Amino acid sequence: MTAVSIAGVTKVFNQGRPDEVTALSDVDLTVDSGQFVSLIGPSGCGKSTLLRLIADLIAPSSGTVTVAGKPAGQARRDQEYGIAFQQAGLFEWRTVRRNVELPLELRRIPRQQRRERAEEMLALVGLAEFGGHYPAQLSGGMQQRVAIARALAVHPNLLLMDEPFGALDEMTRERLQTELLQICATTGTSTVFVTHSISEAVFLSDKVVVMSARPGRITTTIDVNFERRDEATRQSAEYFEVVTAVRKALRS
Ligand SMILES: Nc1ncnc2c1ncn2[C@@H]1O[C@H](COP(=O)(O)OP(=O)(O)O)[C@@H](O)[C@H]1O
Ligand SMILES: [Mg+2]
Repeated sequence: MTAVSIAGVTKVFNQGRPDEVTALSDVDLTVDSGQFVSLIGPSGCGKSTLLRLIADLIAPSSGTVTVAGKPAGQARRDQEYGIAFQQAGLFEWRTVRRNVELPLELRRIPRQQRRERAEEMLALVGLAEFGGHYPAQLSGGMQQRVAIARALAVHPNLLLMDEPFGALDEMTRERLQTELLQICATTGTSTVFVTHSISEAVFLSDKVVVMSARPGRITTTIDVNFERRDEATRQSAEYFEVVTAVRKALRS
């Protein structure tokens, strides 16, 4: 099964105006079911644009975007995916539990079921004890875990993440990376993950997609096949080999 299929996609902002920008040019990308794919590249190369196209927050100028075998718009209406951005984007006046419940409320899921699902998701991200807290009472890393729990609450087959750990310190970041992999493995979720950290992309991904700017294109795709992913992986020779390959691809 294919989670995401992008074919011949070009995105031009402000078409025909003096400030016209070709953000993406002729992009093809396939994300298989259960696969973890990272998009990496310099600032402005179109990573967020590509993610927003998959989420149907914007439309392509040409080409097609298919999610779970459906046009992106249909997939959005069917809530086939969850999204988490760099800023956790939690509602300060809602408890953690009620933040996680929000997408379920929008889906009109009954209260009891909502509550159960929220507890389940909070347990998954290691915050079972914090459902009654308010976001301001949590650290940045914990808030980001709440955002991930919220994105997972509808049990999406696909998770879209735009630099979700970008604002966190290195230690927290590495811990959350390991947690995210465990969650994806447990739930079978496919993931498209935007980052500008080479080490993060390599540690997390089955496939690292390297992009270049002006116009935004995919220049290289690097498959990553580590037998396991844990702290030892980060010290291994094969890990450094892939990191070097990605760095080279980013330079060329
Ligand atoms: N809504 C928009 N209107 C005009 N230009 C945009 C818009 N969104 C993004 N761009 C431009 O498209 C290019 C790619 O942006 P973006 O996808 O945000 O890059 P990245 O996430 O890789 O840093 C940039 O040149 C940016 O200025
Ligand atoms: Mg971006």
